[in-house]
This record gives sequence, structure tokens and C-alpha cells, in this order.
Amino acid sequence: MLKTDKERIFYQIYPKSFCDSNGDGVGDFRGIISKIPYLKELGINSVWISPFFESPGVDSGYDISDYRAIDPQIGTMDDFEEMVSCFHENGIDAILDFVANHTSTEHVWFKESEKSKDNPFRNYYIWRKTPPNEWESTFGGSAWEYDEKTGEYYLRSFAKEQADLNWENPKVRQEMQAVVDFWLEKGVNGFRCDVLDLISKDFSSPINGSGPQLHPYIRELFGRENCKNIFTVGECWSATKENAQLFCDKNRKELTTVFAFQHLCLDNGRFYIEKPSLKTVCERMSKWQKVMADIGAPATVFLENHDQARSVSRFADDTKYRFESATALGGLLLLHDGVPFLYQGQEIGFTNSYHTDISEFDDAETLGYYGIEHGKTDERSLMEKINFGSRDNPRHMIAWTAETQEAWIAPYSRQKEINVEKDLSSEKSVYAFYQSLIALRKKEKCFTEGEFQDVELTDGYYVFKRALGEKEFFIVFAFGKECVAPKIQNAKVVLNNYNDVGKMLQPYQLIVYQKKGKREDEK
Ligand code: NOJ
Repeated sequence: MLKTDKERIFYQIYPKSFCDSNGDGVGDFRGIISKIPYLKELGINSVWISPFFESPGVDSGYDISDYRAIDPQIGTMDDFEEMVSCFHENGIDAILDFVANHTSTEHVWFKESEKSKDNPFRNYYIWRKTPPNEWESTFGGSAWEYDEKTGEYYLRSFAKEQADLNWENPKVRQEMQAVVDFWLEKGVNGFRCDVLDLISKDFSSPINGSGPQLHPYIRELFGRENCKNIFTVGECWSATKENAQLFCDKNRKELTTVFAFQHLCLDNGRFYIEKPSLKTVCERMSKWQKVMADIGAPATVFLENHDQARSVSRFADDTKYRFESATALGGLLLLHDGVPFLYQGQEIGFTNSYHTDISEFDDAETLGYYGIEHGKTDERSLMEKINFGSRDNPRHMIAWTAETQEAWIAPYSRQKEINVEKDLSSEKSVYAFYQSLIALRKKEKCFTEGEFQDVELTDGYYVFKRALGEKEFFIVFAFGKECVAPKIQNAKVVLNNYNDVGKMLQPYQLIVYQKKGKREDEK
């Protein structure tokens, strides 16, 4: 049993791409079950499982057509129950994705809703005679989609096949409560709530989401008795220093924590090719930890998820210093203050994948962007941007071995060189280094209960401190270039992703120092 949420170490599973047990090209529950020993040995104790529900697959499962049914390619309800029990038997909690803002237009509610203006389900969605504002869809174009049948527009913040639910309708809110209850009764431990801040809208605002009823709706849903002990994390792009308390103050009974994105919104848009500076990433991460510490809620710490390019490629060096980059970023993730979320493959140092033709891409957002930009810039530089930022990067099938298999998505382009089998048998194994980081985090309460403090942030490196009682750890994280190392006095090295410690820091060197106790000092 975990005592506090900061003891959690999450691992996000994107089921379609994790492990395909029956060779049909789609990852499945039985594949996940077969890899539970791999996850247990890594040391994680919580998983977030991305959508596996019935879905036409326009947005890779985030377009749900039945919240209680499972995509048959991924498994059956029996498989699901077995998987959850297996996780629990191995001391791993499981939270699910809860996609509350929209359904697929194939959902029976929408099919009814679009039939006529007086259909009992009409008000489950947001219909207007004329668009009341100029909101844009995240995937390109207007967020208001004209529907010929009834001559009105419905709101779709994402693909046109994803219609926004009308949370102002109490029936919708009851339906969504019932969905939460259904999965809680199956034994899950909580939810990651997809674009949660979009569920309440202010149609007169230029911005979609963060409407006046946002917090009351969240409280109505998760303030209920059966949600008292669950873990909830809202994907809240709008989370700021100013409103974090509203989401996460324990007494308000809304969420355990949020995913805030300030530290990842640095690229001037997803398809912008310049690498963001690690210094800024660290600066923003630490600012956010402090915001959350002031509220008394655990922050989330993450560098990847199914929507983000691979961190090694995006922030560091995915060729010459791939091992060092992956392990140093791992140190930042696992020793910083908050609840760490690893994304599948990060523990092996997976990189972005490279593809030359748009037909090799699947992601709705990438295809939308390509549609808008195609013909405006030269094709090569457009493809370069797409390769850098596409959400397909984290969604390629996990390369368990060097052999590629036919799958729903193009194969990972570096599979021969980077795969689990190879990493596990390598002297420089990213997985083994992650194991050590996780073991250290679990062994030393400093990392879960201790104080967090920035010590130094320069253009060359970042040093932060974790302390509890007499114990103190200093984590030195070097950015890309060789530079003069900071002096950490009276300390011994407990982890290092290079063989030695010199006067200079090596590219992407990570050194964890433990301050010597009084007795050791005297030696
Ligand atoms: C956020 C999810 O993380 C993303 O994958 C999805 O496309 C949108 N929400 C819409 O559900």
C-alpha cells in the first residue's frame, strides 16, 4: 500500500502500441499481461492506460463510441478484468483515461442527436444555428461543423468525428458519473481526465474551455463518496499558478493533481523544428513544483506522453549521446519533486522515428497540419517538421526485438538499432539505469517526502537538492555541452551515467551525490 501519492511512479501504456500478443498488428490486453513482469522489474507501481474502448479510431481511441465496451482488437472484458487483477497482485495500481469532453460521432447518443432538433438526445451535444464564435479545432479548421441533416452546426474541438458533449445538460453529467462508477466497480484506481478544462465553455470568450461551471462540474463528479480515495489527474492546458489551487486544493474535492504544460510549450507549436533549451525546461519545471508545493498537492513530473515527441530527440541528443541523454532526462524525471509519469519506451531511450512520405503517418493532428501546409512550403522541410513533432513518434509499436511486424502504424524506423532486447543485454542499458533511479527513489524518503530546492541553474547545467532530516542529495544534470562542473563538497557519488567524475561535466552527464553524514566526514 502506498502511503502518499508522491510514492507513485506511473508508467503510461498506450495499449494499441504496447504489445501485440496475437499478431494482428494491434497491441492488446494479453500483450500487456505478458509484460507485467517487465514493468514490475522496472519498479513502477502505477499505470495509466490510454483508451481501449470501442472506437472508430479517427483519433486513435480518443473518439469513443461506447464508454463501457472494449475495442475487440484490444481484448474482452474478461481480459480487462484479468489484467487489472494481475496489476494489483503485482502491487501496481491502474488508472484509465476518461474522455469527458467529446464522444465519437458514431456514439449512439450522437447518432440520435443528429436525427432531429427535437430528438431526446439533441441536447447531449452543442448545436447552434450559426457559429457563435470563431473557435478553431485543435486539428485544423473551424470548431463548428455544419450538419446538413438539420441545418445546424455542432461543436467539435478536435476532429469532425469527435463531437463535444454538452455538460450543461444534467443528463450528460449523470451519464458521465455512471461511466466513472462503471470502471470503479471493475476495480480501477482512478482516472487521467482528457482535456478536462474544456468541459465548461463560455461561448462569448475567444478561448474554448475554462467556462464558469468548470470547477462545480469537476466537484460534482469527483467530490462523491466513491471517489474519495481514487487518484485523479486532469489534463488541464489552462492550469496556471493562479488557478492551480482551484483544481488541486484537497479541501475542494476536485482532482489529486493536474498535467500542466508550461515546461513543454516551448517550441512555438508542435511542428517547430528548433530544439527548446533544457535550461528553460528545468526552470519551468521547478517553478511549477513550487506552485504545487504551496498548495500542498503533488505536482506531476513528465517529459513525454502519447502526444509528445520523444524527449531524447526533442530536447537532447538521439544519436551520439542517446544513452546519456535518456538516462539524464530519467534522473530529472524521477528525482524531481512530484509524481513521475514515464511513457512507454522512455525506459529504453526510444527516439523519434523517421519517415519520408505522408502516407506513412496516421495521427489525425499530423494529417490535418499536412493538409493545411502542403503546397505552401517545400515538401522536404514540411516532412522534416512533421518528423520532429508528429504524435506518431510516441505511438509506434514498442520494439521488443529487432524484428519489425506489420502493424496499424508504420514501423519504428530505428528498430534494428534500438529495441528492448538489445537494451537489456547491453552494458549501457537505459532500462537498467532507470531501474537504479527508481530503486533510489523508493529507498530514500528524501525523494518522496523531502524538501526540494533549486541550487544552481546555468547555461550548462542544473543542480537541485532533495533533503529530509540529516539526509541530503544533490542532483547534477548537464546539458549538451562539456562545461566546468559545479563543486559539491563532502559528498559521495551514488549514481552516475558516466564512468567517472571529473573537473568537467560531460554532455548529458547525470550525477547524484549524497552528502556525507558527520561520521563519514571525519574519516
Ligand atoms: C488529448 C489527448 O491526449 C489527445 O491524444 C487527443 O487527441 C485529444 N485530447 C482529444 O481527445
